[in-house]
Amino acid sequence: MELKTEEIKRIEEELSKYIDSEVEFILKVGNYILSSGGKRLRPILVLTFAKGIRGENHPNDYPLAIAMEYLHTASLLHDDVVDGASVRRNRPSANVVFGNDTVVLTGDYMYANALYLFSTYGNIDMIRNVSDTVKKMAEGQLLELKKIGDFNITEEEYFKIVEGKTAVLFASCCYVGAELAGASREEKDSAYRYGLYLGYAFQVIDDLLDYIGNKERVGKPVHNDLREGKVTYPLISIRESLNEEERESVKKLLRDIHPDEKHIKEVVDMVIDRGGKELTVKKAREFVNTAISQLEIFPENEYFSKLFKLAKYVVEREF
Ligand code: IPE
Ligand code: IPE
Ligand code: MG
Ligand code: MG
Ligand code: MG
Repeated sequence: MELKTEEIKRIEEELSKYIDSEVEFILKVGNYILSSGGKRLRPILVLTFAKGIRGENHPNDYPLAIAMEYLHTASLLHDDVVDGASVRRNRPSANVVFGNDTVVLTGDYMYANALYLFSTYGNIDMIRNVSDTVKKMAEGQLLELKKIGDFNITEEEYFKIVEGKTAVLFASCCYVGAELAGASREEKDSAYRYGLYLGYAFQVIDDLLDYIGNKERVGKPVHNDLREGKVTYPLISIRESLNEEERESVKKLLRDIHPDEKHIKEVVDMVIDRGGKELTVKKAREFVNTAISQLEIFPENEYFSKLFKLAKYVVEREF
């Protein structure tokens, strides 16, 4: 699926429009990350739902689509600090360039700025939905921290993390788009669920790309999750098939603060050999199908057909 459309061009143009701080550092850090590319999936979801339901975009759709990208950007800024990452979108990540302190505070600014935009261009229903999402994102990431190094993390716990750190934001984007277009309760709920399941699929594939992705294509180093002691779906999907010795080897890797590359590669190869890739893609497809089934209540038009294709793309993507 081609993502580089006119719509993305407009999103790119509007991204710097709603950051008008007098503090130069905020502009500097903000523009550093905002201008580094990214797929812009979250604003696309806002704009496409609004357009799909009312047939066109209205001026207020843009600041709110941008606000959702700000929330995403804030979460990336904080995520790279929390994960101790050094590369994002094929560039040194902002925490490396500007330092953790500056990046955390700029992230805070972006969160607040997004909610400010909602108070200006949105309504109470949107603010409630989006604030709830921001709370859940923090909860999901905290649960993730708590589960670091835990070989026995349950599937339920893993998916709770995925829901919080990724899926609810996708869900809110769709909800906001639908609400902008004056959708009914039923339509807003379906839009939310489409985004939620799309988000599950998206994160499961992000976790797979950490195993099998190409570092230039994904724009971030691979195998970081294992390096950071994170047990994600590819490993969970094949965990049962491991014998005692293999389990011990994985557990040792998860505990290791400076794991060597050879050990990481051994575990990655083991996960892939056992079918971790196929099982993860299968899981992502199930989520995508559930997402797509939420679109049934909406009119058939080019915008909903785009949302159908977007869901398919999320599984096939290589970055
Ligand atoms: C990265 O999101 C964080 C996750 C939720 C996995 P994206 O893969 O959408 O990041 P960009 O914006 O395209 O760089
Ligand atoms: C993505 O978590 C979720 C958020 C940024 C909130 P990851 O830690 O998996 O994201 P990447 O892989 O660094 O992009
Ligand atoms: Mg990360
Ligand atoms: Mg993270
Ligand atoms: Mg990841």
